[in-house]
Order: sequence, then C-alpha cells, then structure tokens
Amino acid sequence: MNKNIVILGTQWGDEGKGKIVDYLTEDAAYVVRCQGGHNAGHTLVVNGEKIILHLIPSGLLHDNTIGVIANGVVVSPLELIKEIKKLEKRGIFVRKRLLISSSATLVLKYHIEMDIAREKRLGINAIGTTGRGIGPAYEDKIARRGLRIKDLKDEKKLSTRLEKIVDYYNHQLVSFYKCNSINYKIILKDLLPIIDLIQDMIQDTTHILHKAIQNNKKIVFEGAQGSFLDIDHGTYPYVTSSNTTIGGIISGTGVGPRCLNRILGVTKAYSTRVGNGPFPTELFDNIDEHFSTKGHEFGSTTGRKRRTGWLDTVSLCRAVKINSLSSLCITKLDVLDGLNEIKICISYKNTNTSEIISYPDTVYDWENIEPIYEILPGWKKKTLGIKKLEDLPYEAQNYIKRIETITKIPIDIISTGPERSNIILVRNLF
Ligand code: IMP
Repeated sequence: MNKNIVILGTQWGDEGKGKIVDYLTEDAAYVVRCQGGHNAGHTLVVNGEKIILHLIPSGLLHDNTIGVIANGVVVSPLELIKEIKKLEKRGIFVRKRLLISSSATLVLKYHIEMDIAREKRLGINAIGTTGRGIGPAYEDKIARRGLRIKDLKDEKKLSTRLEKIVDYYNHQLVSFYKCNSINYKIILKDLLPIIDLIQDMIQDTTHILHKAIQNNKKIVFEGAQGSFLDIDHGTYPYVTSSNTTIGGIISGTGVGPRCLNRILGVTKAYSTRVGNGPFPTELFDNIDEHFSTKGHEFGSTTGRKRRTGWLDTVSLCRAVKINSLSSLCITKLDVLDGLNEIKICISYKNTNTSEIISYPDTVYDWENIEPIYEILPGWKKKTLGIKKLEDLPYEAQNYIKRIETITKIPIDIISTGPERSNIILVRNLF
C-alpha cells in the first residue's frame, strides 16, 4: 500500500496543487511543505469560501492532520504569524498541529528590500519575482550566512549576528542600489514577540518524519511552484531560487527517495505563467481572454494577470522524466468547456531553420521557438463538477487519453472545478 505521496507542479506553478494536496490529505497524518516560501499561493475553496495559503501546508485545514514546514522552506516569521492569525479569525486553529524545522532559513526584511531593489535595477530584464525576498534568502543559505529558525532561540546571539548581516546588506542597499539603510534593532524588535508564539512549534522535523514513516503514517509532501521554475531544471534565469522538482522534496525534508511511494505531477489542462521568461505556447488572442476570465488566472500572491497558453507536452514529458512521476492529475478541465477546438503542443520548431528541436538548453535556445500543435475537437457540454470519468463528454475523455498516450503515464485525478468536491478520482492513490 502507498503510504507517502509527493505532489509536484509540472509547469510554472499555479497548477492547482493546493486543492489536490487538500483533497489527498484527508487520508493523511502529515502534510509537509518542503521548499519555497511565502512566494507560493495555494488557493483552496471550501464550502464556497476561498482560502489562500502561502506558507502553511494546504492540507492543514483537516483537523486531524499535522503540518510540517520542513528544513528546505525559507520562512518569514512575520508572514507565518500573519497567516496563522488569519486562519484563526476563520475558526481554523493550527498552532498545536504545526511544526517548523529548526533548520529552516529565515526570510527577513533585508531580503525583501534586496529583492525589490534588484528587480527595479534590472528594469525590462527583471525576473518578475514575487518581491518576497525568496532569492536573497536562499542566497544567504548557500553562502552559509543565513539565519535559521533555531537562531531565534538565543536572543543575544541573534542580535549579534543580525547586526553583522544587516551591515553587509546595508553596504549593498545604500552604496549600490541607492536605497535607505535598514536598522537591525527594528528587525529584532519585530521578531521578539513572534519567537514566544512559535517556540513550541520548532522541532527536528526530519526526525519526526522518520518516526512517522517507521510508524506507517501516511504523509503528503506538498511541492510549491512548478518544475520549470526550478533553479536547475527551469527556464533559468527566469526561475525561483529553490529546487521545485523531486530533489527539493528529498533535500528539503531529509526523507530519502525510497520512502516516497508515489510521485504525482499536477498539470493544468492548459498552461499559465506569472513573471517573465520563455513560454512557447503563450496566447494573445480571445483564447487568452477565455482562459483568464473562466480560469480566474490572476496570481494568488501578487494579483498579477497570469500569461496563458495551450498545454505544452514537450515540457510536460520533460517534467515526467525529471521528477520520475508515477502519474498525473489534470486540473481545471472545466475551463476548456465551450471551446470549438483544443490545441496540444507536441513539438517545437526553430523559426530560423525550420528544424524540429528538442527541449532547449539555455535561455538563448528558447528564442525563435514555434510550437507545433495537434488539434483536437472541443466540447460544448459542461464538465464543471463532474465526478465520474464516464460522465465526461467523449471529446474531453479523448483529450485526457491523448495526454496519457503522449506522456506515457496514467492520469489518476481530474479536477473539474474549484470546490473540494469537484473531482474525478480515476484511481485511489493511497
Ligand atoms: P520568486 O520566487 O519570488 O523569486 O520569483 C521568481 C519567479 O517565480 C517569478 O517568475 C515568479 O512569478 C515565480 N513564482 C514564484 N512563486 C510562484 C508561485 O507560487 N506560482 C507561480 N509563480 C511563482
């Protein structure tokens, strides 16, 4: 029997992972965030009410589940507390069920200031980050100067280290970026009341997960962002600063690969991307408007309009291999309702040489790419809320089968609407 499931995005994030994590966690004892930070925005609709989570694992809305923010996550203590309190206002109490790795890296004010200053300076070449300080925080981690959650436990040492780090950042912010300097005492003052609030949540989460595995507990590992925002495998430099693919789950939790029983890739029935960077199937016509409006394609963290396009199976097949995916979940199928025809990108052509090319290697290779499409018939019948595969219109079933054939892996889940209940479970994953 499968005990542990990893859920990963196979595109550029916003695939609808939050809902799938929430759905699968109903049967799980633990739900684990492994990488990224509050740049993520996981939208859930429960009983018609929309809830957006950034740092707290999506499955934590189930009363009996324990949530883990593991070592690979970069944590803004201020944002964490804000999110906990926001949930409490809605009657959802998570403090006693949330554990934070003592080794997780902190995101602090100077990371955010640096992120914003850099993007401003890059001008039209900006990455289009969420402005949450994620890149600079991961830089600090790799440079071995980052502050970690465990550093919050000793106020005196924290103060000394903060002073030094802020001094380092102020040199860059003031001299190079011409920004205002930051006072480390203000950061410390904001942090101190939070330390008391999260003290009991700070744990060796790797050990806790090992124990859970030993005790045969079910665990859902929740990926954030998507495969092509991965720092190594994404469309670099237009990526985020963590490994959003399977490696990030392993290093981000300390759970080894043989403990991960199933790896589920989540793919929207079309494509979207926020921020800048390559997007071969991007649309600028009335279909973009259809996807935007019907799919509510606006960023849940920044509110930016998402770029939209047809499903790209060249990159999807790449994601299957990078992540060693066992199966797929297709989300937002209902957004395709009403279209006359549906296109699937099946290969890329170089517009200069007319050559069919494989997956581009560098950011320059992404230029001059034209998608080659296969055209499938659309459907007029509503799929919104359908719960059985055989109830889908023939053309929608055909679309699903075609994706399975191209990717060579099964589709286990189809999401047919924003609500928890709008789901087709083709195969039980646990
Ligand atoms: P950062 O992670 O804020 O540094 O942003 C880097 C890139 O990743 C930008 O293009 C962001 O729009 C994108 N990004 C980061 N988090 C998410 C997410 O949760 N969904 C979609 N895009 C994201």
